[in-house]
Amino acid sequence: MSAVSFKNRVVIVTGSGGGLGRTYALEIARRGGAVVVNDLGGTVEGSGASSTMADQVVNEIKAAGGQAVANYDNVATTDGARRIAATALDTFGRIDALINNAGNFRASWFEDYTKEDLESLITTHLIGTFNVTQAVWPHMKAQHYGRIVFTSSSAGLFGHEKLSAYGAAKGGVAALMNVLSEEGESHGILCNGLMPNASGRMTLRAGEKMSPEDAKEAMANAAGIGNSMEPIFNTGIAVYLASEDCRSTHSLYSACRGRIARVFIGVTNGWQGSCEQPSTVEDIAAHFDQIRDLTHGFHTPRSPSEEHSIVASQVAAGT
Ligand code: NAI
Repeated sequence: MSAVSFKNRVVIVTGSGGGLGRTYALEIARRGGAVVVNDLGGTVEGSGASSTMADQVVNEIKAAGGQAVANYDNVATTDGARRIAATALDTFGRIDALINNAGNFRASWFEDYTKEDLESLITTHLIGTFNVTQAVWPHMKAQHYGRIVFTSSSAGLFGHEKLSAYGAAKGGVAALMNVLSEEGESHGILCNGLMPNASGRMTLRAGEKMSPEDAKEAMANAAGIGNSMEPIFNTGIAVYLASEDCRSTHSLYSACRGRIARVFIGVTNGWQGSCEQPSTVEDIAAHFDQIRDLTHGFHTPRSPSEEHSIVASQVAAGT
């Protein structure tokens, strides 16, 4: 298999001044890509700003002979997002891929999350991803080529206590990926999501907020984990999804202790009620096990109309 190359490709990696994003930026640059290293440079909660983090990564890339430019804008503002895209265009003349990775972190029991926490998390993760994606979209559409990676989280898609606002923001990012995949595919823009797992300042903060039961479970899970919580264990899949070699779209992937897997939303065969008379509450109660049953398979519709087709086929087949 030939090496995956980023020669002549320009990639924006948001939040790449540290943690996971830094490893993505270094790897893309190592493979010949020109990288916009965006980072606001604030705290893990999302306060403050500094140019140091992005500058350090740019220096690292340049010292290794790669091409990179720093950008210190906030993804959460439309003007900031426009300047991130403009940095790529002004410096390197094009935008081929975007890895939406920037994010902040706050954890609380649901009743303790403040409106400010919620706004900060939704604005950074969901609105930030929306903003930067919207800023690069017309350029990708015009060149009929683009790769966009959306960073979601198992905390939102699987569920995790004390992360209601964070998880809701990350669930929104996955939903945005689903919709934009449908809008982008005919324009050569492929969109995929990634649920990473890595130790770093974010997981450190999550650990501090863990209940004793969760901490105990985490300790038990740590057996055999090796080095696989290093950020670099997520880099291969993130960089592949941003590459020309990637043909996947409308899909979500999880990186977890060295295992890379696809995550999907599935629909069971369910129970077929009448199309003439609505089912009653008692009908639902009587068929609830069948509605939930996973043992007879499931479907993974890509759109509302595909779900309609699946149900219509089941009815026609009498299943
Ligand atoms: P990190 O805190 O080390 O990196 C996030 C980077 O984003 C920081 O360098 C930060 O300065 C930057 N940033 C924050 N707000 C920004 C803004 N408004 N504009 C521009 N830059 C901003 O965290 P880590 O662990 O590397 O996480 C990266 C992404 O992966 C985040 O989106 C996070 O939510 C997600 N994620 C991480 C997991 C993990 O296990 N570490 C698990 C699931 C998701």
